[in-house]
Amino acid sequence: MLKGRHLIEPGDLSIGELDDIMNLAARMIGEPERYLEVCRGKILATLFFEPSTRTRLSFEAAMLRLGGQTLGFAEPNASSASKGESLADTIRTVSSYADVIAMRNPKEGAALLASQHSDVPIINAGDGGHHHPTQTLTDLLTIREIKGKVGGLTIGLCGDLKFGRTVHSLAKAMSRYPGNRFVLISPPELEIPDYILSRVFKPAGVRFSQVRRLEEAIGDLDILYMTRVQKERFFNEQDYVRLKDSYILDSKKMELAPEDLCVLHPLPRVNEIATEVDSDPRAAYFRQVKYGMYARMALIARLTGYAGEMAAPDLKSGSGEVPAGAPVSLRRKGKKK
Ligand code: CP
Repeated sequence: MLKGRHLIEPGDLSIGELDDIMNLAARMIGEPERYLEVCRGKILATLFFEPSTRTRLSFEAAMLRLGGQTLGFAEPNASSASKGESLADTIRTVSSYADVIAMRNPKEGAALLASQHSDVPIINAGDGGHHHPTQTLTDLLTIREIKGKVGGLTIGLCGDLKFGRTVHSLAKAMSRYPGNRFVLISPPELEIPDYILSRVFKPAGVRFSQVRRLEEAIGDLDILYMTRVQKERFFNEQDYVRLKDSYILDSKKMELAPEDLCVLHPLPRVNEIATEVDSDPRAAYFRQVKYGMYARMALIARLTGYAGEMAAPDLKSGSGEVPAGAPVSLRRKGKKK
């Protein structure tokens, strides 16, 4: 049961729980009107100590669509943190008002600290370069809705693989499903941290290769996950300026890609995907934004005690295939992908 639990990193969820959240999210996409009362009388607090558009607003939209209410702040200067109040005291206070808290904080480990001082579930909405588990839920749901499975795929991760927390979380999550292979596309300075290779890929027997040029890899991919160079994590401006345009996905490069490639990006983007790609049917990053709201709806519902439509025990197998009878919502409804 997820009721009352914290979500600090994607590994806090078993494969069965991930599948359950994705199944519930898919049902919510298909029949949103069925879930309008699920959180009636409940309150979500969104505490954002760092900027956000999608994560904060999709959390708030998710709670409102479940019939609940929201409160919170969008920047630390709007809270007593600006007067020196500790995170522990802030969390103790807010957990007296809300039933669930979504928090983004620039400090790695802040969500874990918050969970140690909260009487209600803490959802990590991003802690520095560390974790962003609801982006991972979003990414998994998007991949499953579009590809019909989350295993047996070749996934290209492109751009800032060093600082991109969404990349680290997705690499870990997709390594738990069988048959996935990674192509890591980055400049030498922005390679994925060694621990992902040595402590995640290698023990799980995950195949991977490292390349420098997107053109070399794009033709072999099922998923291309583009990322922004994380300016806010650089220590010096010169390095950022030198590396920021390492990869730009444009229509010319898309000509080299398979017909069924799925292009994802956690957003915000800067220059790494030319806007001309947006109208390509393989560009799925704005659908991904919408799936993020449904993934968060399903998560909030479970953490606050909604027990309807729980996953059957056989979903714990983690085969990476969508189980028979499980909804892949938009495809099932025959909408254009
Ligand atoms: N993907 C993501 O976390 O976007 P925001 O920073 O806008 O929340």
